[in-house]
Amino acid sequence: MSEIQNIQWFPGHMTKTRRMISANMKLVDAVVELIDARIPLSSRNPEIDALVYSKPRLIVMNKCDMADAQQTQKWLNYFKNKGISAIAADCKSGSGLNAFLPAIRKLLSELIAKRKAKGMSTGTLHIMILGIPNVGKSSLINKLAKQKRAKVEDRPGVTRTKQWVKLSDDIELLDTPGVLWPKFEDMAVGERLAFIGSVNDDILDIESLAARLVETLRYDYKENIIKRYSIDYDDNDSNFDIIEKIARKRGMLISGGEVNFERAAITILDEFRSAKLGRITLEHCDG
Ligand code: G4P
Repeated sequence: MSEIQNIQWFPGHMTKTRRMISANMKLVDAVVELIDARIPLSSRNPEIDALVYSKPRLIVMNKCDMADAQQTQKWLNYFKNKGISAIAADCKSGSGLNAFLPAIRKLLSELIAKRKAKGMSTGTLHIMILGIPNVGKSSLINKLAKQKRAKVEDRPGVTRTKQWVKLSDDIELLDTPGVLWPKFEDMAVGERLAFIGSVNDDILDIESLAARLVETLRYDYKENIIKRYSIDYDDNDSNFDIIEKIARKRGMLISGGEVNFERAAITILDEFRSAKLGRITLEHCDG
């Protein structure tokens, strides 16, 4: 997937992003790291630890409505075993978000206790959201704020007047999330980001991408493919053979009875991205 290797996140953007995140970090008590439950590893920013440093952090595994529920549970256990707080959510419907405020209070219980011990009021707890583009940051803010807000710019470094969104009597959220750059250095990671639609399809060879997706799903999620497309295949079928079977089943033909590979490729990618192929996690947790 040479196109993916060629994607570069502008170093200039990275510098600006780092600067903005560091400046905002001073204003908050905790950070919420939003990741995609379908790719819990690849949707994390490679430098997140250095950026967040010692601030308490809550991981929100978003889009869990599209991920394999068993896998999401395994990932939650994995994070818990590492001493990292994590919850699963669907920021489109809001499902799972009732655990959000209690998780923040638990995360900051030491700070709250310390303030109380000093005879201080516990004050307002300030939090900020961080995550790569398209992971659901605006959706999370909108759901938590219980009102539709403007789409947050995906361009890092855009300075706006800081605004705090009141989530409860004791918790306020910075309305501008930190837009982190994704990790494209690793080809497999870039490919998974492309599968979920986080890379502009215009710069990708869509047929090769669909073939790679078929390769990724054909064993672990064979049932999903068979059920969705009413086809069968075995080890003798190449990934392109499988795409051809899907195209024929759906009547995606061009003149002369040839199959329209491009249409079939777009369909497979779309149906994976919209979870019509079922709830699928691309990065499995062994722990
Ligand atoms: P961002 O600010 O991090 O860039 O992400 P944003 O909230 O804009 O979300 C990106 C897309 O992902 C949106 O879809 C949004 O609806 C969708 N999304 C966010 N969270 C979830 C979730 O938990 N589950 C599902 N299924 N989808 C989610 P879109 O097609 O770009 O726009 P829309 O018309 O659907 O809002």
